[in-house]
Formats: sequence, structure tokens, C-alpha cells
Amino acid sequence: MNALVLHEVKTAPVYQNFEKPTLASDEVLIQIKAAALNHRDVYITQGLYPGIVTPIILGSDGAGVVVEIGDAIPLKWLQQEVIINPSIGWQKNTAVQPMDYSIVGMPTQGCLAEYIKIKVADLALLPKPNHLTWNEAAALPLAGLTAYRALFTKAKVQAGERVLISGIGGGVALFACQLAIAAGAEVWVTSSSEQKIEQAIALGAKGGANYKEENWHQDLLEKAEGAFDVIIDSAGGDGFRYFLDIANMGGRIAFYGGTRGSFKVSPQKMFWKQLSLFGSTMGSSEEFAEFIDFVNKTQLKPVVDSIWKLEDAAKAFDHLDAGKQFGKVVVSM
Ligand SMILES: NC(=O)c1ccc[n+]([C@@H]2O[C@H](COP(=O)([O-])OP(=O)(O)OC[C@H]3O[C@@H](n4cnc5c(N)ncnc54)[C@H](OP(=O)(O)O)[C@@H]3O)[C@@H](O)[C@H]2O)c1
Repeated sequence: MNALVLHEVKTAPVYQNFEKPTLASDEVLIQIKAAALNHRDVYITQGLYPGIVTPIILGSDGAGVVVEIGDAIPLKWLQQEVIINPSIGWQKNTAVQPMDYSIVGMPTQGCLAEYIKIKVADLALLPKPNHLTWNEAAALPLAGLTAYRALFTKAKVQAGERVLISGIGGGVALFACQLAIAAGAEVWVTSSSEQKIEQAIALGAKGGANYKEENWHQDLLEKAEGAFDVIIDSAGGDGFRYFLDIANMGGRIAFYGGTRGSFKVSPQKMFWKQLSLFGSTMGSSEEFAEFIDFVNKTQLKPVVDSIWKLEDAAKAFDHLDAGKQFGKVVVSM
């Protein structure tokens, strides 16, 4: 089969022929129709991820058709149109992931290939939402699940609350924005790009500020005419301390990444405002099912930034690394 294979960190993944997976009795073979990239894939190629094994086919997000089944798999699975749950080994919605939790696309083979084999445990595969194209369905899993847990399980966002999503160009951030709007929250955003703020407004956000400008946080507070009940972030770094200034009394701040590195926070601001800070990471299979249910009920459509061919997908990594995208970077087979 054709696949995009990473042989060594700090080199580009290579489009090549690769051995097609053979099935164990509890596995199915999926012909991938579309896959999507996450920053995780870029970090792995750059050697910035723990436990990297090579050669590896990356790609945690994928959707496709079940074309072969193992001996123990019921016939009803054949020809099913499915999306792949990227969380392996985290079934119940527990406070933390189990120690043996892993993610599709390293250390196990990922979706940037014509075929992938998946062990059919509970909720490992879900039906593809009917209202979505293959490219849209493939855009959902990892980023959508991460946004869902941060927003609903951790920050417990409610309709009518004022929510700030930072770095709206991010794949997870944009899902958080769409999910919060669909849940009836008033959503504000930050970005390094005025154009991305305008694109978020077109999706239903109230407005935003450029985090590269000095005093962006004051600017945002004035525009929103009030402080934020919930803040969702993945950048961390120096700018994080300002979230404490613009959070409402009793505000909840959830973060799932640290793109800009460590941050310092004022204990006085934290305790006086009785703020809660939540670390969050991807999500359980139960939350994945809740997320897909939410997508079906609200008919939410993910934003697709660009669609690449598998043979050109190494360039899609550079596109994501450059941060020019708005929405998911998809690879169509
Ligand atoms: N823990 C988990 O389970 C999990 C899951 C997914 C992602 N992550 C992490 O979350 C981060 C984002 O991932 P992603 O896949 O969504 O990445 P992505 O799609 O590549 O987005 C990165 C975005 O970060 C924003 N950004 C950069 N510097 C910023 C700053 N100083 N302040 C605010 N925003 C800033 C930019 O937004 P603008 O373009 O709008 O400026 C950029 O587009 C990564 O660090 C990733 O490893 C963690």
C-alpha cells in the first residue's frame, strides 16, 4: 500500500510503498478515505515528543470503510463507514488516562496510508456522521475530542457564559470555538491574524484581539464589556498570566498544550478571584462518543483549511508548522 512514512526524526516523512497490515482475529482493516494532521504529527517529526519509534506512519485522525474483518469480528462490520477513535485504552470518562493509554499514529501505525488496522474494542470505531463529507469526518477526532473534554468535562461551560478561546488558528481551538457557540456560549477569540479573527466572527464568535499587540487583554476586556467565565488555551508562555486579569470571579481556565512554554501565575489573583486552573489532555472513548453525538445533534461541520494528496502530504506538515492554517489540514486518499 502507499503510505507516508517517517524514518528518522528531523527528516521529512517519505511517500512510499509499505507493507499492508495483516489482521488478528479481533481487528478490522479500514480503507482510509481521508486523514487529518495535528500539531502532534509535526512535533513527532521534529523529535519533540516522548517515546518516538520509527519507521512510523503518522496521523491520528482518519475516516474510511471497513473492507476486511478478523475471524472474531461479526459480519455486520463489513462495508461500515467509520471514523476512528484516536484514544487507545481509555474507555471510561475517568479523571485521568490509564498508564497504558496511547494514541493512534505512534507508537501504533497511523492514518496517513491507504489502509490501517484497528482492534475493535468498545467505541474504537463510530459510524461516520451522515451530514459530513469524508474530508470533514476525518477532521473531527483528535482536535474535536480534546476541545470537547477541555470545554465540557473540565471547564463545564454553560449556555450564556462568556468564553475566550486563544489562538483561534489552532485545530483544537477552532473546535472549542464551534462547540462553545453550538452550546449557546458567547465566544471571543485571540489570534496573531486579523483575518482569522474575522473568520471566527463569520462562524459566530462575537469578536477578538490580536495577542501580538501590547495590551491585547485590556482591549479584549473593553470590547467584550466584561470578564470571561471560561478561558481555553494551548499556548501557555508569557501571555498566560493575563488570563488571570481578564477572568471573571470564579472563572475556569482550561489548557491542553504549551506551545509557548512555561508560565507564571499570581497566587494572589488566583485565590482572590477563586479561579480554577484545569490541565486537560485528549479524552476517553466515552467522551469521544458524546462528542460525535453532539456533532450529529447540532449538525456541526468542522472547518477544513486545505486538502492535500497523500503523495504531497509532507508539504502539509510544513504548512501546519508555519501556522498559516484556519481549520484542519486534511489529506484525502
Ligand atoms: N494534550 C492534548 O491532548 C493535546 C491535543 C491536541 C493538541 N495539543 C497541543 O495543543 C497545541 C495546539 O495544537 P493544535 O493541533 O491545535 O495546533 P495547530 O492547529 O498547529 O495550532 C497552533 C496555533 O497556536 C496558536 N498560537 C501560537 N502562539 C500563540 C500564543 N502566544 N498565544 C495564543 N495562541 C498561540 C496559533 O494561533 P493563531 O494562528 O490564531 O495565531 C496557531 O495557529 C500544541 O502544543 C499541541 O501539542 C495537546
